[in-house]
Amino acid sequence: MTRWNVYVTNEIPELALDMLAKHCDMEVNRTGQVLTKNQLLEKVKGRDAVLSLLTDPIDAEVMDAAKGAKIFANYAVGYNNIDIPSATERGVMVSNTPGVLTDTTAEMTWALLFSVARRVVESDKYTRMGKYKGWGPMLFLGQDVMGKTLGVIGAGRIGLSFAKRAKAFDMKVLYSDITASPQFEQETGGQYVSLETLLQESDFVSIHTPLLPETYHLIGEKELKLMKKTAILINTSRGPVVDELALVKALQSEEIWGAGLDVYEFEPEFTAGLMELDNAILCPHIASATIDTRTKMGTIAVSNILAAMRGELPPNCLNP
Ligand code: DGY
Repeated sequence: MTRWNVYVTNEIPELALDMLAKHCDMEVNRTGQVLTKNQLLEKVKGRDAVLSLLTDPIDAEVMDAAKGAKIFANYAVGYNNIDIPSATERGVMVSNTPGVLTDTTAEMTWALLFSVARRVVESDKYTRMGKYKGWGPMLFLGQDVMGKTLGVIGAGRIGLSFAKRAKAFDMKVLYSDITASPQFEQETGGQYVSLETLLQESDFVSIHTPLLPETYHLIGEKELKLMKKTAILINTSRGPVVDELALVKALQSEEIWGAGLDVYEFEPEFTAGLMELDNAILCPHIASATIDTRTKMGTIAVSNILAAMRGELPPNCLNP
């Protein structure tokens, strides 16, 4: 079988690159920097396949520059960075890496939820600054989690994995999505409600929807105003699902109690004011970042390329 020429747009775990190198000739962007659009347009020329990241905008222009490429294998479960209709029109396959990062992302969502509720980051900074002079009854008072109401927006794989863990804290689970999910209800005991009810009644609201035209700014000024003053918003899905300016204002005026964010509307840029907030914890899009999971994401992305090379339908092909 002729070896394919593959471009990998950033470093991914070596195990996956070794797997690819056994069957293909490859070039990896090892600069540690995300490629600019012009660099991407240049680098994809003459390739049979491209292993892309969620930071690479794979639009019609890139696909045309990569004329001859049979597959863009995205190293992510999310694929809002790829124009799938344009790929399908050109007969180019697109794949993602679902499944392996579900529990890892759910775990990080809980980590953020607890960290905001119990002010872990803020109190760590305080301690390191030498400000801790002894136990105090009013020091860093937070929010309880046990027995509270958890609102889950998006009942897909990650939302489900996250919500299942709420049983351990005797939480009432509410969820909203386009349609009700019997599986979600069965496995979490969750109750299907409107977004409005979810926002009004939840103590913790966690977002698990993909970024689609329908979910862009799903949470904006109006929705934030519906939330309790003591509520906490967590987002480990995609930044633009939240109107970040409205969120900054709601946090500044303490309309809601706190937020835990792993993703940003203008990633990697931040809306003015966000960085200065003590009631927000900001992580650098690391919800799937464990050694095991990132390795599995790499081997899945490579498996999709190798399947395409063998003339098979990649296991995680996204084209309709
Ligand atoms: C994804 O896979 O879509 C995450 O955002 C990164 O793992």
